[in-house]
Amino acid sequence: MSETPMLSAQDVARYFDVSKPLVQRVIAREGKRTLRAVDGLSFDIPKGTTLSLVGESGCGKSTVARLVVGLYPATRGRVMFDGQDLSLARADSKQRSRMQMIFQDPYASLNPRWRVVDIVAEPIRAFGLIAEKRAILDRVGELLTQVGLSPLDGQKYPHEFSGGQRQRISIARALSSNPEFLVCDEPTSALDVSVQAQILNLMKELQTRLGLTYLFISHNLAVVRQVSDRIGVMYLGKLVELSPAESLFKAPRHPYTRALMEAIPDLEMTGRQRIPVGGEVPSPISPPPGCTFHPRCPLANARCKAEVPIMKPAGDAMVACHAVEEGRG
Ligand SMILES: Nc1ncnc2c1ncn2[C@@H]1O[C@H](COP(=O)(O)OP(=O)(O)O)[C@@H](O)[C@H]1O
Ligand code: SF4
Ligand SMILES: [Mg+2]
Repeated sequence: MSETPMLSAQDVARYFDVSKPLVQRVIAREGKRTLRAVDGLSFDIPKGTTLSLVGESGCGKSTVARLVVGLYPATRGRVMFDGQDLSLARADSKQRSRMQMIFQDPYASLNPRWRVVDIVAEPIRAFGLIAEKRAILDRVGELLTQVGLSPLDGQKYPHEFSGGQRQRISIARALSSNPEFLVCDEPTSALDVSVQAQILNLMKELQTRLGLTYLFISHNLAVVRQVSDRIGVMYLGKLVELSPAESLFKAPRHPYTRALMEAIPDLEMTGRQRIPVGGEVPSPISPPPGCTFHPRCPLANARCKAEVPIMKPAGDAMVACHAVEEGRG
């Protein structure tokens, strides 16, 4: 038996009711409308490793992040954290202190009126981890040093720092409850390219030093390439390919993964925005039948329009595609 994964998502789904108000629905003779933001994802994250999720904006990445840390209950399926069902453990603060989240915009997630020392100490106080004031200050100084800042920076306010430094502050805060698992939702997307690389390096260093497990989320394949052990490619709320990072870049299998690869702006990550794949992403309220990628897929045929492909082993990856299964293309 292998070790219990840090995190295990089992057919997890999250739907949102996006119906118009009842009166309007009655007048327009419309039914309820359901948006399937995440529609049946399964993956494991072994301890001490990084799983990244990539996909275009709107494919459900942030919703997965929220499901995984328990900010949203699942509509279907379950999330197991270190072998325990998250929905049952949610009230347990010991369990909650073991996972933390880092967001894209460090400015929005740091209280501008608080000194950095209080921002970083907040989880320590919230979880009641250290009682003594002097000991809390010492711990914050240690955390700031660990992320490449100075203990003296604790006396300053967030606006006195650059974007990259602010992200270091949010990492210090996330680490203050001694978590084992970090969910990082586009942590470097708001930063300049050179600063991105520094933050990614810091995260890798901290992972090695502290034995952390990461769920890393980005729309940018060039970014996830630098940090991932395994990569999951998402399309319209589903995983279409789940693969060791190396093989994904060497031999992408799913047509959508291949299209994303070809669209990597450049490996220097200038951060230029491009439309990675021709055609628009369909609405998750009324997704196309069969394979939801079929309107944009060069390999689509009649089967693709009728039958939903499910994840099946393909080499060392899992892929949801009829063409891959049939060995065509
Ligand atoms: N609270 C919500 N209510 C209704 N729709 C939502 C909500 N949160 C996200 N969505 C929708 O779910 C889909 C996935 O969103 P999100 O998880 O933010 O994607 P991503 O992070 O990949 O850009 C989008 O269509 C988005 O509009
Ligand atoms: S199942 Fe069909 S439409 Fe979907 S990605 Fe594969 S070939 Fe393309
Ligand atoms: Mg998002």
